[in-house]
Amino acid sequence: MLQSIVITGFMASGKSTAAAKIAADSGWRLICLDRQIEESCGLSIAQIFAEKGEAEFRQIESRLLQDALAVNSPPKVIDAGGGIVLLEQNRRLLEQACVIFLDTGISDILHRLKNGAQIRPLLAGLDGEEVRQLWQARRQVYVKTADFVVKDMAELNELFDRIIQRG
Ligand code: S3P
Repeated sequence: MLQSIVITGFMASGKSTAAAKIAADSGWRLICLDRQIEESCGLSIAQIFAEKGEAEFRQIESRLLQDALAVNSPPKVIDAGGGIVLLEQNRRLLEQACVIFLDTGISDILHRLKNGAQIRPLLAGLDGEEVRQLWQARRQVYVKTADFVVKDMAELNELFDRIIQRG
């Protein structure tokens, strides 16, 4: 049976666009964990961080990842938040999935962050150099937890075709 695909990567690296494209091409269900977290709490991500704190956010995120990867459920495309690789319990769950790290360069990420409207509580108050340091530290964990690393959408599409053909 095909494994679910989880797209990982730093904030603003284009995961949502990538996951939506793969889901549209495959017909698999698309799950965006951040949206599910917001729906389950009735709060925005920024409000959850402010009112409940990061630790509680991580627990909710982990529970929803576990649900999404439930044994015997049909394969899905999961758009995970950038911090999904931080908890050991999540890294273990991810072993059941096909994890694709979208390795977008820091200049593209900084550009998107500057032009995007989304509020990302973890980046509040950080300057470009501090974001780069966080990206660099996280990047190693993304690489370690990934089955595949792709640089852009073209590489992702090509990889997905191979995964589907392999069954
Ligand atoms: C986070 C990434 C965010 C969101 C939360 C924490 C992170 O998702 O889950 O703000 O720790 O990297 P995106 O990667 O979709 O921005």
